[in-house]
Amino acid sequence: MILSIVLVMLGAFCSIAEPAKILYVLPFGGPSHYIALKDLGLELANRGHEVHVITPFRENNPPPNYHQIMVQKKSPWEFLSQERPNIFTFTEYSFSKYMGLLYQIGYMLNELVFESDEFLKFMQEDHKFDVVINELFYQEPFYLLAHKYQAPLVLVSTFGNSMKTNFYGKNPLQLNVANHEWAVFDPTGVVGRFWNVYCSLYDLFMHKFVYMPKQEEYARKYFKDLPQPVPSLEELAGNASLVLMNSHFSIDNPTAYLPNFVEVGGLNHVKKPKALPKDLQEILDKATNGVVFMSLGSNVQSTDLSKDKLEAFIKVFGELKETVLMKWEDDTLTNIPKNVILRKWFPQIEVVAHPNVKLFIGHGGLISLLETINAGVPILGIPVFADQYLNIHSTIQNGNGAMLEHKNINEHNLRTILNKMLTDKRYKEKALEISTRFKDRPMNGLDTAIWWIEYVIRHKGADFIKTPALKFNFLQYYMLDVLLLVLAVALAPLIVLWKIVSLFKSKPVKKNVEKKKQKRN
Ligand SMILES: *[C@@H]1O[C@H](CO)[C@@H](O)[C@H](O)[C@H]1NC(C)=O
Repeated sequence: MILSIVLVMLGAFCSIAEPAKILYVLPFGGPSHYIALKDLGLELANRGHEVHVITPFRENNPPPNYHQIMVQKKSPWEFLSQERPNIFTFTEYSFSKYMGLLYQIGYMLNELVFESDEFLKFMQEDHKFDVVINELFYQEPFYLLAHKYQAPLVLVSTFGNSMKTNFYGKNPLQLNVANHEWAVFDPTGVVGRFWNVYCSLYDLFMHKFVYMPKQEEYARKYFKDLPQPVPSLEELAGNASLVLMNSHFSIDNPTAYLPNFVEVGGLNHVKKPKALPKDLQEILDKATNGVVFMSLGSNVQSTDLSKDKLEAFIKVFGELKETVLMKWEDDTLTNIPKNVILRKWFPQIEVVAHPNVKLFIGHGGLISLLETINAGVPILGIPVFADQYLNIHSTIQNGNGAMLEHKNINEHNLRTILNKMLTDKRYKEKALEISTRFKDRPMNGLDTAIWWIEYVIRHKGADFIKTPALKFNFLQYYMLDVLLLVLAVALAPLIVLWKIVSLFKSKPVKKNVEKKKQKRN
């Protein structure tokens, strides 16, 4: 008996993947990006892999096989040497202005990383990696690290489907159902669909013909002594062995994906809720009329809300029978109604998991959104930028959410939407249904991501899962060569026929002409 247990344990031990050397490249300084992606690196280390992480965020007490290469931390505003604007001004940005900002961040990231001592030292060291994982967010020059170490490239995104990645990786674009990641309008109506096509084509064009050539220049300036020949960034992007997307068909539009495009929605929130702090537990337990929880995430600070909008919130919250928990960073607020509790910070996963929580009010950032979906709580979204609009539109389509645009925040609109969401039971029913289907899969998001990364390591880049279309040129990819062949085959008999006919026709014509000439003479 004991022997068999030992054998079983040995067997289990042997089946653990061999520890691999992994480089995880996360140089972007957005806290929400790091929160979404850090678990992947830490968990790879927990499973025995030797992980090197390039990041501006330091992890305290990581596992010993988790090595941090620190780069400078700068917010986008410091990048652009600008004051941090009121974040809600983004809701007034045009699409092209917003894209321009993102491209700028992409360019500046190069300088930031290449001026970081730890990174430069790391580049001098002798390393071998089995795989290089890069965040998919305006940091294409760093894909060259995969080439430097002659390792397969894995891309991982904090959001879902990305048009550019589809384009470079030759995944079908599906402009009719797949939405541009930063599209703002409801993508189901004709205007929204037009807008989606416009955003997608604008971004693809600018990315390919303006942004990538510039990044290529930066890449050549900063990366030296690479193995020759050096592939283009576009080739590298298309050649990724794996694209891991933080989306899932149970909550997003189902779309067709090549086998190396894998949905791992919920990379960051597999943790079970811990115990709530005692005082909060008490507040939540006692709130038998229910709880409304409002938190606008790490980018949006509550102090960005204008005075009249804030007053509208406080006024309408005060009218509710529910208890309201509100994340608020500013101490100066007075005259707060009795049922409203302000704190600088709430343990979000734990709060939304409490059965008394009836509604979450957030900005539609994917991390808090997925945590709330997981907990089966309806969502009222006040989107600001990036994928937040799309995320909230999905909850509207799914029936577990509603949107209140920043410009429409006032007492009347707030009262109407809150009353609707707190009394109409369908929101909660849908939220529970969606929570169940979101969790119902063979493996959770993090385990799925790790399984596929180890698969790519085991198969040395798994080139066989990449589409053969990557090798096609423009004519071949759009089947224009086939079209030409079809045209040629179809036209050939016609041409022959036409030749023959014209051969016969030409004689009488000549005769006629001759006759006419004779007549004139
Ligand atoms: C594409 O990736 C594979 C490994 O997955 C590698 O062997 C090959 O050299 C890469 N090609 C280019 C052009 O980078």
